Amino acid sequence: MADASPRRAADGVRVIFLGPPGAGKGTQAAKLAAHLGVPNIGTGEMLRTAIARTTPLGREARPIMERGDLVPDGLLVALVRERIAEPDCGRGFVLDGFPRTLPQARGLEEMTGGDPGRWVVFDFEVPRPVLMLRLSGRRWCPSCQATFHLVNDPPQRPGVCDVCGTALVQREDDRESVVARRLQEYDERTFPLIEYYRTRARMVPVDGNRPMDVVFHELRGAVEVRV
Ligand code: AP5
Repeated sequence: MADASPRRAADGVRVIFLGPPGAGKGTQAAKLAAHLGVPNIGTGEMLRTAIARTTPLGREARPIMERGDLVPDGLLVALVRERIAEPDCGRGFVLDGFPRTLPQARGLEEMTGGDPGRWVVFDFEVPRPVLMLRLSGRRWCPSCQATFHLVNDPPQRPGVCDVCGTALVQREDDRESVVARRLQEYDERTFPLIEYYRTRARMVPVDGNRPMDVVFHELRGAVEVRV
């Protein structure tokens, strides 16, 4: 379905994407943020940028991410706190990959001044075998971080980024053994957030095992009810 013309968000729209690795959070968060005209804050993407620039954060995060573990809460809370203090977040933002633990969720409330009652939390559900196929077929641009899939979303020229022309690669953490660890981290540390937000925010379960444009249509509708 064709995307409608971009819609400006009402002041203060805040959207959180929850879901296991490969559920489609990054794909949809980028589209929704562009649609709403607010920044898309993807913590995985911010960490990969820090690694590429070999900043102190990147040096600390790299071995952790390569194992499939979560980066310590304190680092992530500080990273997001700094980002959402920037002027472009004044009218709202989309969070992809944060919070991922209960301490991060509490940190987010503290840094935004409390009550998440009007926030929209999308909870993506996708069967595990589908996740494995998505992650093994994902290809990623190390330059602009655009994401493709060999079968589901191939670039126009095989192996080349549509956006910037850089050669596509497989993410280090998309290797099978690392994916298993990432899923375990999700189950143990992120899954409890579903219960946490069920009573605190506007929780929207999303069947992520549908075509991308169908999923986007649903997300857009849910947020526009909200704004
Ligand atoms: P991060 O980059 O956030 O990875 P993730 O949450 O594991 O999610 P993915 O990027 O793997 O998947 P996705 O759900 O975004 O799916 P995508 O849209 O790409 O984090 C990486 C690491 O950074 C973490 O492991 C951790 O170490 C660290 N980190 C980040 N945030 C942290 C935090 N807050 N605290 C601590 N550590 C943190 O789609 C996947 C593939 O499927 C693509 O190829 C896509 O084209 C395809 N696809 C998407 N949607 C569909 C669809 N509907 N149908 C068919 N194919 C689809």
